[in-house]
Parts: sequence; structure tokens; C-alpha cells
Amino acid sequence: MAMSNRLAGKVAIVTGAGTVAEGMGNGKATALLLAREGARIAAVDLNRAAAETTAEGIRKGRRRGDRARRRRQPLGRRSRDR
Ligand SMILES: NC(=O)c1ccc[n+]([C@@H]2O[C@H](COP(=O)([O-])OP(=O)(O)OC[C@H]3O[C@@H](n4cnc5c(N)ncnc54)[C@H](O)[C@@H]3O)[C@@H](O)[C@H]2O)c1
Repeated sequence: MAMSNRLAGKVAIVTGAGTVAEGMGNGKATALLLAREGARIAAVDLNRAAAETTAEGIRKGRRRGDRARRRRQPLGRRSRDR
């Protein structure tokens, strides 16, 4: 899904940002979605490991987004950026 970056420059504090149950909880889904829209996330959770897992998901998403942006750049610019 395309990212609009409409939350660039914003910080979102998400409580309960981890997931302890099966699948993806509401807090984690919210944190990932806001990050994808460009916000910086403070992922807060009683369970530190669960918050770390969400933070890693956000970092992975950013890396994926960066790679996709680089692929969309013209070849000349891509090599200059390395
Ligand atoms: N996920 C769904 O589709 C869904 C649907 C309807 C209702 N619910 C309800 O929503 C609630 C959350 O479930 P979930 O599946 O979204 O997430 P989850 O239970 O997987 O995760 C909730 C997270 O909140 C953290 N947490 C709990 N209390 C906290 C506190 N005081 N401060 C900081 N962090 C705290 C937990 O450590 C956990 O990581 C549950 O009551 C669930 O029954 C969930």
C-alpha cells in the first residue's frame, strides 16, 4: 500500500503497542499504520519485549520503504546516493 507521509514531523505515543495474543493486536496495528504514514512512534507497553517486537516491525517497514523509494529513483541518482 502506498504511503502518503501525511504524518511526517509528528510523534505518536501508542500505549499497549505490543501484541501478546495471537495475530496482531490493536496497539501494534495502530503503531505500524501511523509509522507507515511517516510519524515517529513512542511504542509504550507493560511488556517491554512486545514493544520491542513492534519497534522492530516499524524499522523493517522503514527499510522496505527506503528500498522501494530507491528502486523508483532514476539509475543515475541511485548510484550517487550509495
Ligand atoms: N485484536 C482484536 O481484533 C480485538 C477485537 C475486539 C476486542 N479486542 C480487545 O482489545 C483488547 C486488546 O487486545 P488486542 O488483541 O488489541 O491486543 P493484545 O492483548 O495482543 O495486546 C495488548 C497490549 O497492551 C499491553 N498493555 C496492557 N495493559 C497495558 C497498560 N496499562 N499499559 C501499557 N500497555 C498495556 C499488553 O502488554 C499487550 O502487549 C482486549 O481486551 C481484546 O479483547 C481485540
